[in-house]
Amino acid sequence: MGETKEHKARLEEICESLDIDPEGEKCKAMEGLIKEAESFLKEDAEDDIRDAGIIANAQRMEHYEISGYGTATRFAKELGHSEIAKKLHKTFKEEEDADEKLNKLAENRINEKAKS
Ligand SMILES: [Fe+2]
Repeated sequence: MGETKEHKARLEEICESLDIDPEGEKCKAMEGLIKEAESFLKEDAEDDIRDAGIIANAQRMEHYEISGYGTATRFAKELGHSEIAKKLHKTFKEEEDADEKLNKLAENRINEKAKS
């Protein structure tokens, strides 16, 4: 959660430097991903299935963020905003790290399951 706040602050900084309103538009795709994750949580699933689903939903969101930050980084470079590109790339890398952590969680889950 702390990292997400940092990402938000970084975006607000970027918006300020470009004189853009950060409250501009809401992302309907991310809203949809959140809705799907919430409706999954309401399902009556066994613990193991629930864990798998939570990880899968979190990874879908991370992948969506990775895609967004990757594109934004490229656009910033293309437009000659090298400092902004660096900031966006930093967030991109952190999103990739978060995805990798989720991969490890998913792998541990499978290993634990194999042991039992
Ligand atoms: Fe993320």
